[in-house]
Amino acid sequence: MNTKILVTGGAGYIGSHTTVELHNAGYEIVIVDNLSNSKVEVIDGIERITGIRPVFIKADCTDLDAMKKIFKTYPDIKGIIHFAASKAVGESVQKPLLYYRNNIDSLLNLLELMPQYGVQGLVFSSSCTVYGQPELLPVNEEAPIQPALSPYGNTKQINEEIIRDAIYSGAPYKSIILRYFNPIGAHPTAEIGELPNGVPQNLVPFVTQTAAGIRKELSVFGNDYNTSDGSCIRDYINVVDLSRAHVTAMNRLLNNVSATNLECFNLGTGKGLSVLELIAAFEKATGVKVPHKIVGRREGDIEQIWADPRRANEVLGWKAVENIEDTLRSAWKWQQKIG
Ligand code: UD1
Repeated sequence: MNTKILVTGGAGYIGSHTTVELHNAGYEIVIVDNLSNSKVEVIDGIERITGIRPVFIKADCTDLDAMKKIFKTYPDIKGIIHFAASKAVGESVQKPLLYYRNNIDSLLNLLELMPQYGVQGLVFSSSCTVYGQPELLPVNEEAPIQPALSPYGNTKQINEEIIRDAIYSGAPYKSIILRYFNPIGAHPTAEIGELPNGVPQNLVPFVTQTAAGIRKELSVFGNDYNTSDGSCIRDYINVVDLSRAHVTAMNRLLNNVSATNLECFNLGTGKGLSVLELIAAFEKATGVKVPHKIVGRREGDIEQIWADPRRANEVLGWKAVENIEDTLRSAWKWQQKIG
């Protein structure tokens, strides 16, 4: 029998792609998702790619009884990949308590239940947002954690601390924290991808919607930063590449490869791209123009950040392999599919 993994938030953007890669690696998947920011049709997309329908349970990870029931029904769950979380920075400023409740209670429930049901490993979705604006670039995992700029960012920091404290207290499981840079793109089949809720806040969904004519023009938030062309720099990482890192991390946890019970890895390409460079790369890759104009800076934006992914490359044994043009083409193919 294949090893069973619980994927929380498995109907979401990164969760759905990771479910596909877990399946490809021979795992059996149980998805729990409250569908607060995703659609149940995503499960159909996963099934069309893999030929297997993952178990899907609509439940909220903050609901302890519902989570207990899942572990009772599937007592052979060996690992958890915890994606389920609220993730909109702006909304988190408006509704901080919702963010703290959702993002912290969920993790507490999982950590409390793991020992009771013999779950050995937890992979946690964190973000490069914990570094704020790093002094040294590229940023590695030893860089200081900076005060969070939003309740969302704070929940990621607090969650990392909760995991660390639980592990250091001698909890009988291991964990790997993955700090994502900027995940973009979609599965090459265009069966799954990012489904933004309303007006996209993130750059690439806004780019593809503008290219599709859904948005009149893209606003580039600032061209007066201290970067080569004045726009902000990020490390854009293909979502399938990113998903594969979760499989590698889960293998590592379940095969007892790591020397310590808690590890943390940056997941990025190691290459920074400015907003204007990304737009140019999209236009080149797809042949479609993206009308855009320069506007003022967005409050709270980091000027520039990109990853030093060497620890993930050398210790985890994972490397981003997809190139930016293919990645942007996959985002465009997905946009054309969803219309
Ligand atoms: C944002 C969050 C980050 C979170 C991540 C989750 C902020 C400050 N950071 O990352 O904490 O983990 O989302 O997805 O909100 N841009 C434009 N025009 C647009 C949209 C974006 O110019 O319409 C620019 C931004 O200024 C930024 C870059 O594109 O320089 C990327 O923006 P975005 O996709 O929102 O990601 P982050 O800001 O890096």
